[in-house]
Amino acid sequence: MPLKNPIYAAIDTVDLAQAARLIQRIAAGPVPAVGGIKLGLEFFLAHGAPGVRYAFPEPVRMTGVGFFLDLKLHDIPNTVAGGVRAVAALEPTYITIHAGGGAAMLKAAVDEAALQAAKLGLKRPKLLGVTVLTSLDDSDLRAAGVNETAADQARRLALLAREGGLDGVICSPQEIATLRAACGPDFLLVTPGIRPAGAAAGDQKRVMTPREAMRAGATALVVGRPITEAKDPRAAAEAIAHEADLGDKIRVQVGA
Ligand code: C5P
Repeated sequence: MPLKNPIYAAIDTVDLAQAARLIQRIAAGPVPAVGGIKLGLEFFLAHGAPGVRYAFPEPVRMTGVGFFLDLKLHDIPNTVAGGVRAVAALEPTYITIHAGGGAAMLKAAVDEAALQAAKLGLKRPKLLGVTVLTSLDDSDLRAAGVNETAADQARRLALLAREGGLDGVICSPQEIATLRAACGPDFLLVTPGIRPAGAAAGDQKRVMTPREAMRAGATALVVGRPITEAKDPRAAAEAIAHEADLGDKIRVQVGA
């Protein structure tokens, strides 16, 4: 089912008060400006579960905004299952795990997510596989003994993730079309590297606009600095969601 607002705002800071302020500003009701909030490794290592509950409190969650917990888990199956168990009560919509961690690790994560959801009476978190980090190129892969191009390796890992029962993957905007074709219409493709037309790319090299990414077949878009560093983060998020929505409408027409 397409998300109503496909924008997940990446709140990349260790400043707890700043994170709480930003989240309140963009995600509070009655109509949140974003579809969800992404908190990652740096925030979680600094503040853990209590920090999540403080910065992203129940009244904000109640508006229906999603929660993307981007921890990129990668360890032996038992430890990854333990990680999934440890965060289940936070009710993440999405949890990330490295798709290259092996079939047993993927299965352990999938089984544990289902088990904990049933035990706690919560919706099962969706598991997204990390394929090839966009910071790696073909020569980095070769140095690590992988003789595929980054694009081919991303496709291979996305298919492995799908076989392993994951709900989708994180991918670069450039990979959306290929992975959509390879993995089918229901596989979730969540993509960072999004910049509204005319915005600064920063350290992102291969970017797409929200409209282009939705047209290419993305499920959800992760947007950080264009929202968090805007003078008015709420207005910026609304403008990006509007642009993404237009892309989605065009995609539907194209596919009809
Ligand atoms: O500020 P910006 O929009 O570039 O933020 C993008 C977000 O997506 C950050 O949280 C970053 O860690 C994350 N991300 C990324 N590239 C990946 C995976 C995650 O930019 N390949």
